[in-house]
Amino acid sequence: MTDEIKTIHASFKKNIAVAATPDDAERIRVQYLGRKGALATIFDALKNLAPEERKRAGEEANALRREIEERLAEKRATLEQTSHEGILKKGWLDVTRPGARLPKGHLHPVTQVLREIEEIFASIGFNIAEGPEIETDFYNFQALNMPPGHPARDMWDTFWLNQPAKDGLIARTDLQNKSVLWPHRDNKFLLRTHTSPVQVRYMETHEPPIRIIAPGIVYRYEATDASHEIQFHQVEGLMVDKNISVANFKAVMREFSSRLFGKKVSLRLRPSYFPFTEPSFEADISCVVCDQKGCSLCKQSGWLELFGAGMVHPAVFKAAGWNPAGIQGFAFGIGFARLVAMKYKIPDVRLLNGGDLRFLHQF
Ligand code: FA5
Repeated sequence: MTDEIKTIHASFKKNIAVAATPDDAERIRVQYLGRKGALATIFDALKNLAPEERKRAGEEANALRREIEERLAEKRATLEQTSHEGILKKGWLDVTRPGARLPKGHLHPVTQVLREIEEIFASIGFNIAEGPEIETDFYNFQALNMPPGHPARDMWDTFWLNQPAKDGLIARTDLQNKSVLWPHRDNKFLLRTHTSPVQVRYMETHEPPIRIIAPGIVYRYEATDASHEIQFHQVEGLMVDKNISVANFKAVMREFSSRLFGKKVSLRLRPSYFPFTEPSFEADISCVVCDQKGCSLCKQSGWLELFGAGMVHPAVFKAAGWNPAGIQGFAFGIGFARLVAMKYKIPDVRLLNGGDLRFLHQF
């Protein structure tokens, strides 16, 4: 019996959602509540059930009847006010009444900051590149100097996929919202754990000098907390030419950070390790909230950790088919969700993907 009641409930919800006139509402009333309607059949069948079962099914059927009555009444009231037929039935129309105000949307804070970042980098000569979110082992790891079994792979907890190989790899890109066929080079599929594979994809199809940023969504198989999501945005950067040095990196990032936060910031590099850069560093900016006096965002240190970066490892140039002799460049990855959180002083990055309109309306 329960299954039949559930089926009636589902079918009612479907029908009431598309009712467009008061007559539609009346037809639905007859269909479900009429003397020969769906619920009457259920009530009829109750008498054949065992007492226990009859009690339970009876309660469920009554609850459903109440819900149908209430929702029909609401729908009828709305349709009498708003449908063409309802207005005609009333016999008059107040043409001077102001129209209903449409609620106004706005861009998601992540999109707002992303556009700002793109504008800043575009104004200093960077192009925007993109790559697929479904990647292969080759681009996500091997081409970035991490052959199978390399221990540094553990730095990126990975969602692996069982997708069969085709001639190419279809991926929807978040930049242009269209499907693109990407070469995959091997059959071990995964959700990209960082935007660094785009470096290799771009170098495969371009010649130096290059200056790009590659914003996009990345995925990590990890426990979430206030600063960790399983799905978040990164912005990759890559600049390659004959004489690019760490000094160029510092200049570009200082300019970028000062413009993004609207104030002069200083940059600090700390030694770090990434297999695809040598040397590698973490880049911090002076705290934009307290101006280095000490606050909770910078944990009283005066510095905010913002970029993972380094000078591109020759093995990456080779993997992309380039001869590393005579060229060098820097690459960086910005933890973008954290950057948005810093810019707007959001205490928990999970709010950004939560879809809670009360939160999003504030931006
Ligand atoms: C990387 O992903 C490197 N690809 C960055 C890089 C690019 C280094 C180019 C060198 C050259 P890492 O795993 O540290 O590095 O992630 C970069 C940033 O992403 C972190 O600093 C952090 O801000 C952000 N991040 C990492 N994990 C999460 C997470 N779970 N949720 C939100 N943000 C995260």
